[in-house]
Amino acid sequence: MTKRFGDFTAVDDVSLEIGSGEFFTLLGSSGCGKTTLLRIVAGFLRQSAGSVRFGERVIDHVPAHRRNTGMVFQNYAIFPHLSVTQNIAYGLRARGLARAEIERRVARMLEMTRLAAFAARKPRELSGGQQQRVVLARAVVIEPDVLLMDEPLSNLDAEMRIHLRGEIRALQRQIGVTTIYVTHDQEEALSLSDRIAVMRAGKVEQIGSPHAVFNEPETRFVAGFIGESNFLPARRLGADGGRVVFETVGGRRIAVPTSRVRGDGARFMLAFRPHHVRLAPDAALAGALADTVYSGTAVRHAIDLGDGVRLSALMLSLPGAPSLPIGSTLSFDVPPDAITAFPDSGP
Ligand SMILES: Nc1ncnc2c1ncn2[C@@H]1O[C@H](COP(=O)(O)OP(=O)(O)OP(=O)(O)O)[C@@H](O)[C@H]1O
Ligand SMILES: [Mg+2]
Repeated sequence: MTKRFGDFTAVDDVSLEIGSGEFFTLLGSSGCGKTTLLRIVAGFLRQSAGSVRFGERVIDHVPAHRRNTGMVFQNYAIFPHLSVTQNIAYGLRARGLARAEIERRVARMLEMTRLAAFAARKPRELSGGQQQRVVLARAVVIEPDVLLMDEPLSNLDAEMRIHLRGEIRALQRQIGVTTIYVTHDQEEALSLSDRIAVMRAGKVEQIGSPHAVFNEPETRFVAGFIGESNFLPARRLGADGGRVVFETVGGRRIAVPTSRVRGDGARFMLAFRPHHVRLAPDAALAGALADTVYSGTAVRHAIDLGDGVRLSALMLSLPGAPSLPIGSTLSFDVPPDAITAFPDSGP
């Protein structure tokens, strides 16, 4: 589907199919079109082209309030004058459910979101995290076909974010509701999702499991956006069995499995994670230690390879490891399966 605002295209020919019960995340930086896509699914916004289906049913003409979606949006406030219980019951009352059924469902929801002790309180008597749990309970209690969440944790402090993240995932698993979650926080996306769509400027760059988008990036953008990557410029020398051989700074050679080479051409960028760099005597690559930063659990080395190329190497800090003097030569390699080669079109 596509969404244009005037002559600006906010969502550009995006096609997604989300499985029943799946936790699906739209991940991308600010302005890439995540909220626009979610608002189209919710029915608050009409797409310029394409259509939305829930199962077999096209719902393009179904108004938002009849789509049976549960919504947890960034600024979707709870009613300040209603108690926690009344807030959660609101959607059920609006649907005209019997009193006994409403009480049963609300009680279950209070239990699941651990809000039972706060049932009679007003929102202003709750912490930010507790309020957000009320929003979540209110969205889920109606037993929606789809649960839509747009940056539901962004107003909370770091500790509460991580805590509530776990609760959202547990709740979603427990009730099995199909969920579309929007975030620009990659760690949140990786830890919550069954699958992630990585978006960039209105387009989807890659769709896959957290493991796939992290370990098998299909584009250079994804390799740089999800987690941290080193980019080592290299020239393609030729194929050798199931591998492609590259020459990099200082005439050193690196072989990459053909399945991890993402295109053709002469000039490439070899992408790999700092934690995949292994220091070893007489390894394939070498450089001068430019800097070392100790952070308790890990040690990060900056390594200069010459020609202005600097790499980052991250290792666990082990007791008794010798400290390496700045300027010393480090020999290292990277497991071939941890390298992805992208054609280098840039300068
Ligand atoms: N009603 C509108 N009229 C014109 N342009 C809009 C409108 N709504 C959104 N846009 C533009 O469409 C693009 C995508 O907006 P969207 O809100 O979907 O981004 P987002 O990915 O949710 O970003 P963020 O992470 O900052 O919330 C932005 O460039 C935005 O300025
Ligand atoms: Mg948004």
